[in-house]
Amino acid sequence: MNRLFRTKPLARLLGETEAPERRLPRVLGPFQLTCLGIGAIVGAGIFSTIGTAVAGTASAPGAGPALVVSFALVAVACTFAALCYAEFAAMVPVSGSAYTYAYATLGELVAWIIGWDLILEYAVGNVALAISWSGYFQQLVQGFGLEIPAWLGVDYRSAVQATRELAEASAQGIDIAAAAPAVRHAAEALETAPRLAGIPIVFNVPAFAVVMLLTWLLVIGIRESARVTTIMVIVKLAILAVFIAIGACYVVPENWTPFAPGGWAGIARGGAIIFFAYIGFDAISTAAEETRDPQRTMPIAILASLGVCTVIYMAVALVLTGMVPSHSLGTAEPLADAFVARGLTWTAGLVSFGAVIATASVLLVFQFGQVRIFFAMARDGLLPPWAARVHPRYRTPHINTLIAGVAVAALAGCANINEIVELCNIGTLFAFILVAAGVLVLRRTDPARPRPFRAPLVPWVPLGAIATSGYLMLELPRVTWVRFGVWLAVGLAIYCAYGMRKSRLRASA
Ligand code: ALA
Repeated sequence: MNRLFRTKPLARLLGETEAPERRLPRVLGPFQLTCLGIGAIVGAGIFSTIGTAVAGTASAPGAGPALVVSFALVAVACTFAALCYAEFAAMVPVSGSAYTYAYATLGELVAWIIGWDLILEYAVGNVALAISWSGYFQQLVQGFGLEIPAWLGVDYRSAVQATRELAEASAQGIDIAAAAPAVRHAAEALETAPRLAGIPIVFNVPAFAVVMLLTWLLVIGIRESARVTTIMVIVKLAILAVFIAIGACYVVPENWTPFAPGGWAGIARGGAIIFFAYIGFDAISTAAEETRDPQRTMPIAILASLGVCTVIYMAVALVLTGMVPSHSLGTAEPLADAFVARGLTWTAGLVSFGAVIATASVLLVFQFGQVRIFFAMARDGLLPPWAARVHPRYRTPHINTLIAGVAVAALAGCANINEIVELCNIGTLFAFILVAAGVLVLRRTDPARPRPFRAPLVPWVPLGAIATSGYLMLELPRVTWVRFGVWLAVGLAIYCAYGMRKSRLRASA
C-alpha cells in the first residue's frame, strides 16, 4: 500500500530531465509561451459552444446577455486553478503537467490516475475539436463552391441518428425539407455512402486529415510548431477583434433586455458549458521542459493568457448578444450567423475562416500536450519505454506523437461530438481539483522547498479551486459521471497490469 503512495522526489524529477537521450531543447520564451496558451484556449468554445450557453435549450434556458457574467465567474474559478498550476509549473518545470505534480506530491497511484484522466482533457478533447474543425472547414469550402460528399464529412453514428430523426419526423407528417440543414446533410451520408460487404462507408475525412497534418508538424519539431501556433494566434485574435469592432457598430441595446432570461440557473448552466472555452491555459505547463527560464516564464504565461482570453470573451459575449436576440443564437456557428442575420455575409465568411484557424491551433497545442504527458509517464516506467524515445534529428518524441496522432485522428473520423465534450470537461475539472489538492499537500509536507512562484492566500485559493471546479463538475449530467467512472476503472486495471510492476521508482526502491 505504501508503495502505491510513494512520491517521486522533486530533485530526482528535475535530474531525470537532464538525461541527454531524453532531453528536449529549451526554445520557448514568455511571448511564445503566452501564444501557446492563447493558442490552446481560444477555439471551439468561443466560436461555437457560446451559442448553446447563450440560447440554452427548449427545456433549460441559457444565460442570455448575462453570459458576460458567466464568463467573469468561470474566469475566477479558472484563476484559482491557474494560480495552483503556476505554483507547480514554476517549482516542477518538467513536462507532464498535473501528472508530474501528482507524482511529486500525492504518490504514484494518484499520478497514474491523473495521467489517465488527462487523456480525457487532451486526446478526447481533441477528438471533439477535430470534429468541430471539420464542420467549419466544410462550411468554408462550400462558400468557394466546393462540396465534400456527405459520407466523407460526418461520422457513422451521426448519420444513423439523423436518418432516424428524419424518419420519425416524416412518420409524424412533419415536412422533412424544414429539418435543420445539418440533419439533412448527415442523413444524406447514409443514403449516398458506397458499401463494402453491405456496410455503408461513412467517415469524417477532414477531421482525420487535420489531426494527421498537425501530427506531422509536431514530429518535425517544436520550434516549427511554436512558429505556426504564433501565426494562428495572431490570425484568430485579429478576427475576433474584427468581430468586436464591426459587431459593436451593429449593437441594438434593446437586445440586452431581458439581461438574464434564465435567471441565476441560466447563468450557472451557461458557465458550466462555456467552461470549455477556458480549457487550455493548463496546457502551457506541459511545455515546461522546452521553456527558457521556466520559473519566471511559466506563471507569467499562464496568467497572461488567461487574462487576455477573459477580456476578449467578455467583449465577444456583450457584442454578440447585442447584435441579435439571444434566442436566435443556438446554432453551431453563432458568431458567423449573427453577421449573416445583419446582412454582413463577407464578415460571416471571415469569422468562419477565424474559427477554422482557431480550432486548428487548439488542436495543435492539445496534441502537443498529450504527447508530453505520455512522454513523462513513459520516462517513469508507467508506459512502455518507446514512448519516451526522442528522434535523433527532430528532437521530438516521434513514436509517441505518431501513435497519439493516429489514435485521435481515427476516433475523430468516426466519433460523435456531443458525447465527447462533456467527458473532456469532467476530466479537466477533476485534474484541477487534484492539482489544487497537491498544492495544499506540498505546502504542508515540504514547506521549505523554494517556490519561485507562490499562489497567494493559501489555503483559500486552492480551496476555492477545489470548490468551484467541484461545483462545475456537479452541473454535468449523470451519464457523464458514469462514463468518467468507467474510464477511471479501465485506467486502474491497466496500472495494475503494467505500470505497478514496471515503475522505475519501484525498481530503484
Ligand atoms: N478552450 C478550447 C476551445 O475553446 C478547448 O476550443
